[in-house]
Amino acid sequence: MSTKPKILIQLDPDRQASVFDRVVGVDAGADHVFSCRHVTLDQVQSLVHGAIFTRGPDELHRTAIFIGGEDVELGDQILAQVQSAFLGPLRVSVMVDANGSNTTAAAAVLTARKHVDLMGAVALVLAGTGPVGQRTTLLLAREGARVRLASRSLHRATDKADEVNQNLDNKITPVETSNDETTAAALAGAQVVIAAGAAGVRVLSESARTGNADGDLKVAIDLNAVPPLGIEGVEVTDKAQMRGGAACYGAIGVGGTKMKIHKAAITSMFEANDRVLDAQTIYELGKAL
Ligand SMILES: NC(=O)c1ccc[n+]([C@@H]2O[C@H](COP(=O)([O-])OP(=O)(O)OC[C@H]3O[C@@H](n4cnc5c(N)ncnc54)[C@H](OP(=O)(O)O)[C@@H]3O)[C@@H](O)[C@H]2O)c1
Repeated sequence: MSTKPKILIQLDPDRQASVFDRVVGVDAGADHVFSCRHVTLDQVQSLVHGAIFTRGPDELHRTAIFIGGEDVELGDQILAQVQSAFLGPLRVSVMVDANGSNTTAAAAVLTARKHVDLMGAVALVLAGTGPVGQRTTLLLAREGARVRLASRSLHRATDKADEVNQNLDNKITPVETSNDETTAAALAGAQVVIAAGAAGVRVLSESARTGNADGDLKVAIDLNAVPPLGIEGVEVTDKAQMRGGAACYGAIGVGGTKMKIHKAAITSMFEANDRVLDAQTIYELGKAL
């Protein structure tokens, strides 16, 4: 059995490679983290070849690639480039979690699932047009939920819903949430609300929330950790805190699950050399924890 050190190669397009991702890599068992920053698409092939030509096929599971950075779309493009650089069995496991989007969306949906049977449940994703929101809507819909993707602009919600729906049979519905009235209407009948608004932006006021006085809401999750928080009345540290009949979670309350998923995903890459961890596979892995 190979005892070669476990090497995590971090491909980060940002000017500085994420310290957060490096620390999690070490904590998840990597002996070395090779941080490549300012990575561009045209450099990916030679970086991958450096990973796959240096160890024998029976040792390649001790090398893995992590794709990070702030740009979620670029992260997905790098993933495609990495996969096209593999040569048959000469490959290593790879995970993409640009801006923490895949692990965060997985943690949010797994948290909701603790309180509500998602099959057939109505779920509202506020500010669902961002990368975290889009991935959250996709995972919820794949669990059979009836998903509403909300934006301040119906046009943007429709555009993003159309994109997500390309990969779905269970179609999601775009909704407008431009003020308290439209937000309360979007929330009506929902058992799940997940607020995926930008940092420091409130997307659900107390009055819009209590406007949904039908008592259907069972779980409210806010992913924004920067004040003002995304859901008025939900604290950042809330973790299954009951408020107005709903189990409430703030960003820190969901953070533990996110960290657990992130570490487990890195650990799993060192078990085989052919894992591809994207939004869906990271979610499935989180489900099995
Ligand atoms: N805990 C973690 O590790 C972790 C990791 C990643 C992300 N997060 C958090 O998850 C949340 C979502 O992340 P993201 O990257 O998807 O967010 P994002 O792209 O920055 O923003 C998401 C959506 O928020 C809405 N928005 C932006 N500015 C707004 C404003 N001034 N007023 C009202 N709405 C506004 C926009 O929707 P519309 O314009 O369509 O309304 C936008 O598409 C953020 O709060 C982020 O900090 C946490």
